[in-house]
Amino acid sequence: MTEIDQPLDLNHQYALDRDCTTLSRHVLQQLQSFSPEAQDLSALMNRIALAAKLVARRLTRAGLVEDALGFTGRTNVQGESVKKMDVFANQVFISAFEQSGLVCRLASEEMDNPYYIPDNCSIGRYTLLYDPIDGSSNVDINLNVGSIFAIRRQEGEEPYSSEDLLQDGHKQIAVGYILYGPSTMLVYSIGHGVHAFTLDPSLGEFILSSENIRIPDHGPVYSVNEGNFWQWEESIRNYIRYVHRHEGYTARYSGALVGDIHRILFQGGVFLYPGTVKKPEGKLRLLYESAPLAFLIEQAGGKASTGTQSILDVVPEKLHARTPLIIGSKEDVALVESFIQEHNREQQEREILTSKG
Ligand code: AHG
Ligand code: MN
Ligand code: MN
Repeated sequence: MTEIDQPLDLNHQYALDRDCTTLSRHVLQQLQSFSPEAQDLSALMNRIALAAKLVARRLTRAGLVEDALGFTGRTNVQGESVKKMDVFANQVFISAFEQSGLVCRLASEEMDNPYYIPDNCSIGRYTLLYDPIDGSSNVDINLNVGSIFAIRRQEGEEPYSSEDLLQDGHKQIAVGYILYGPSTMLVYSIGHGVHAFTLDPSLGEFILSSENIRIPDHGPVYSVNEGNFWQWEESIRNYIRYVHRHEGYTARYSGALVGDIHRILFQGGVFLYPGTVKKPEGKLRLLYESAPLAFLIEQAGGKASTGTQSILDVVPEKLHARTPLIIGSKEDVALVESFIQEHNREQQEREILTSKG
């Protein structure tokens, strides 16, 4: 037998099979169909991947190119200082989807109102909601950042209205995030589990690296900005006192939700951004951050809550609405909820006693 006739050894064969599982092929495999909707989703995920590659390319060389780092001098609709990278990434998603033919409207935390693509609206059946750069305070110091996305069906008859977006998170049909770290990863769900892809720069393709990820039911990490300790309600302070007093907990907080969630997805634990005195609803935006990540984490067997309600059940009153967020391993989220419930019960009892005089 010549060398060429030798069968490939099994490990080698496995590596090649894995290297061939690209994102668009994976979406079609997940849906087990070549239906028009399956093909739409595959094309949409391909466009997300293109946007991710364009953002990753700029981030990789950000210290070397003009006008990539620093602030623009403007504030966005939420009153936050806008970075040049926020504007760039926001535009990247618009450009990638202008050519998709499938998306008629994009809404992001960096735009006051949704962006319409009139040419697509006659055929475009989907809306993209996104956080173009999550954790933008990390950009100038070359630490990990992310992008978060969700796709919803276009329901309203009037494309220039965003009323139909004011619905709960169960309406999302595809969600995910991109983590720009030592490697660029794309993690997504279309309601059939959670799957991670790693960008192979030599191929320019996202290749499947972990399939059907399950979040541990409990984990050691608690991830919260403890600088806000005296801004929280007593129930959250009590939870943090609990983890300080018990063995087995460790704090991790990167300043970028995507990075913290990625760690928790693989290793377990809980991320919290509760309400504060200054921001009673917390900081994170329901439609661009909390709802997409809640869908993803629940698909992996975890839980996401405001403290009193499932994040996926929350119906926003406005496009840029915020919610408190407690997300991660189901036992850890339930433990935080139990502190909140106990505090609320005690408060009600006190109120009853006071009203009885
Ligand atoms: P963004 O950069 O999209 O505004 O998001 C930042 C978010 C989130 O990524 C992070 O977890 C949190 O804000 C950090 O906020 P604090 O600095 O208040 O902890
Ligand atoms: Mn963000
Ligand atoms: Mn952002």
